[in-house]
Amino acid sequence: MCGIVGYTGTRQAYPIILKGLKRLEYRGYDSSGVALLNDGKLNVYKKKGKVAELEEAMIGKNTDAHIGIGHTRWATHGEPSDRNAHPHLSANGKLSMIHNGIIENYALIKQDLVNKGYHFTSDTDTEVLLNFIEDIQKNNDDCKLEEALRIALKRVSGAYCILLIEQDNPDTIIAARKGSPLVIGIGKGEHFLASDASPIIEYTKEVVYVNDYELAIVKPDELILKNLGNEKITPYITKLDMELAAIEKGGYDHFMIKEIFEQPNTIFDCLRGRLYAKEGNIKMSGVDDNIDQLLNAQRIMIVACGTSWHAGLVAEYIIEELCRIPVEVEYASEFRYRNPIVNKGDVIIAISQSGETADTLVALEKAKENGAFIFGVVNAVGSSIARISNAGAYTHAGPEIGVASTKAFTGQLAVLMMVALDIAKHKGTITTERYLKLLLELEQVPEKVNSILKNAADIKSIAEKYKDASDFLFLGRGYNFPIALEGALKLKEISYIHAEGYPAAEMKHGPIALVDENLPVVFIATHDPYHEKIMSNMQEIKARKGKVISIITEGDLFSKSLSNDYFEIPMADELIAPLLTVVPLQLLSYYVGTAKGIDVDKPRNLAKSVTVE
Ligand code: F6R
Repeated sequence: MCGIVGYTGTRQAYPIILKGLKRLEYRGYDSSGVALLNDGKLNVYKKKGKVAELEEAMIGKNTDAHIGIGHTRWATHGEPSDRNAHPHLSANGKLSMIHNGIIENYALIKQDLVNKGYHFTSDTDTEVLLNFIEDIQKNNDDCKLEEALRIALKRVSGAYCILLIEQDNPDTIIAARKGSPLVIGIGKGEHFLASDASPIIEYTKEVVYVNDYELAIVKPDELILKNLGNEKITPYITKLDMELAAIEKGGYDHFMIKEIFEQPNTIFDCLRGRLYAKEGNIKMSGVDDNIDQLLNAQRIMIVACGTSWHAGLVAEYIIEELCRIPVEVEYASEFRYRNPIVNKGDVIIAISQSGETADTLVALEKAKENGAFIFGVVNAVGSSIARISNAGAYTHAGPEIGVASTKAFTGQLAVLMMVALDIAKHKGTITTERYLKLLLELEQVPEKVNSILKNAADIKSIAEKYKDASDFLFLGRGYNFPIALEGALKLKEISYIHAEGYPAAEMKHGPIALVDENLPVVFIATHDPYHEKIMSNMQEIKARKGKVISIITEGDLFSKSLSNDYFEIPMADELIAPLLTVVPLQLLSYYVGTAKGIDVDKPRNLAKSVTVE
């Protein structure tokens, strides 16, 4: 987590950094700060709270500087406060640093520094690393900052992306990364540094993605990239394929609702150039070029976190059904520590919106070391998970800025559906008739999502009716069971209402004890082979006076008669249904959250990109 921005060049650094921090706030927003080098001195300003509070506090301050670094924080070590906010100043006041990540062995280093007489003004691991660097400089004949940093980084464990500026070197930013992202934008006589490309896009489209264990020495006219062994590396310049409009709200109140409403387009973009329904074909180079690897897999493991893990659960059902390959879905955080059996040739599908989730990334690194073949389903182009993958398919949902994942999820489902169909066709485990039907249905998804969104006002009314409930239950079966989990997760994170997702039939093994006249129970009850079963589950809730809210297939009179409130969606094959049923649940959480006055784009305690354990 945490967002970092840096600038060195001829323009005023502060407005660029401030705007960049606002764009990166999705990564953390409990405090923020900037360090500017002006009048030959490092000046640090920081404030608890969102970036707007820093902006307010900066009014009247001298911001005339052409170099600076800024940070928006998601607390790990030390509570959110002014003193724990970044940037930090070293003990002699000559160095300032921002950091995204965690220095795991900071306590030992700190003790050593305390013994040497260092005092600390914050509780952060970052200030420890900074003073460690200062101390190395002192003990090595005032060596160059870059050299001191290199020595320090060889001694620390953990993850970092750091930016450092130095009073005595007034045009240079030194940066380094391991495990947390860093992009450098190349301008004319200026450079921009940030956690992702969003703060950079309006100034330049030429960027360099810095790799792990690389160190950058960045001046207005020069970018030098080195490894930790001090060898120069040629920077690989990439052209950004992203427009500014994609990272702005475009007239919507929140990014979340904008992103929900973008789904007809994002799903279309995801299918475009891959799905040829009329010709009866899917072209996915990531699958087609590696088909032997995929067909020979004895099993597929899916590794992901949060919403992406829910997409993995849907994929498990689809791949087993269509491809007849055993699939296991793992939380990345469990997988990375539990010594799983991974053999050469095993296929791991990694699902991630950000492509930077630390647990997923480390799980993949371990699996890759054991010879697994990694297939990435990633949204953020050029991200770490995309780069570590042997093959993959981007979801093409565009930048997702609202903390709650919406359009990335439907992009993941669309990609995974195509992957399964493509493998099944190669493997001969699907009939031509079924294959063609699913292709046609998939092609119709953007239009069907559009028709759901046209009725968003109906979900808004339901949300207003139930917004004061203290608990919600979400129930679904089959392909819609993971959607029940996703509906509950969305509601929790955006409205702070306690919610649980369950397979509908599991309800009677425990959760039914929660049911009374105050409990709204959301059923995902579209037409599928288990429809009658889920009707029985609805009756069971009704008999106990629970409030039934149902997501049903158009024209399903019986389900309507059992529901206190319902929302109809277009008819769809059960494998395709999750792409539709999730949309009203995204809307429900959005409207409940906003009705409760919650900042849904930045709900408390969360961050968009979880780059720490
Ligand atoms: C929920 C949400 C999170 C993420 C999770 C994984 O709305 O956004 O649960 O899905 O942190 O993130 P990625 O997909 O970036 O690996």
